[in-house]
Amino acid sequence: MTANHPSDLLALFERDGFAVIPGFFTDNSCNTLRTRADEIVEASDLRGASAFSTRDGAAARDAYFLESAHAVRCFFEEEARDERGDVRFAKALAINKIGHALHELDPVFAAFSHDPRLHELLTVLGTREPRIYQSMYIFKQPHIGGEVDWHQDATFFSTEPQSVITLWFALERATTNNGCLRVLRGGHHTPLRERFEAVPGGGTRMVRLDPAPWPAAGDGEPLEVEAGTLVVMHGLLPHYSAPNRSAQSRHAYTLHAVDGRAHYDPRNWLQRPALSRPLA
Ligand code: FE2
Repeated sequence: MTANHPSDLLALFERDGFAVIPGFFTDNSCNTLRTRADEIVEASDLRGASAFSTRDGAAARDAYFLESAHAVRCFFEEEARDERGDVRFAKALAINKIGHALHELDPVFAAFSHDPRLHELLTVLGTREPRIYQSMYIFKQPHIGGEVDWHQDATFFSTEPQSVITLWFALERATTNNGCLRVLRGGHHTPLRERFEAVPGGGTRMVRLDPAPWPAAGDGEPLEVEAGTLVVMHGLLPHYSAPNRSAQSRHAYTLHAVDGRAHYDPRNWLQRPALSRPLA
């Protein structure tokens, strides 16, 4: 189930669509990222911030969301506001995530994201020219940490051939109590079900590509991991996380990388022209 050597890692990844690498990074790195995330939240002007939801298209249509592709922006937990829209928690406990260019714009996250070991890892997994397209800091706050519906990350980073790989770094212990990842082992052999596109002229839409069903909300194999663990996921692997109703947060940092030699779909909501240029 866990991988410690490159050959094991590739074999597990190809068989299961994911691999778990405990102790990939240190407690010190966890603390550094967590402290930096807190600083970003504290320094943020949240008046324009919107809630993030995988079910509600409103956030996606919001310019705040679209512009976050090239920024460092905070998004509220859906349940952080009361009926009148007022935030009912201290902001440190109300933010769902920070996205989506931490790896480019923030020096602390940029240093972590460009660790040569990550490039090496992606190469072992078959990525010829790893390119990081997106980063997110996920808080999964105590009591109100939002559910993330079943999805495949290739939905958001369509390439031909499929090449997106997700690197999911546990910054705190993740358990079934605080909404750990759940995966469909071997599910990367199923088709891409949806593509999240930018609509010419503005906005976004989710396009259904294949009728393959999703597992039920609470199903899937829970990945209970310690802080310092890296979970690597294939872009077609269906995954999910339940709401966090516990008193423990479940912080994680994620990177999404694609192969620079694959064709990056111009319809994808997030474009990074500097990374998409044809190679000389
Ligand atoms: Fe995901």
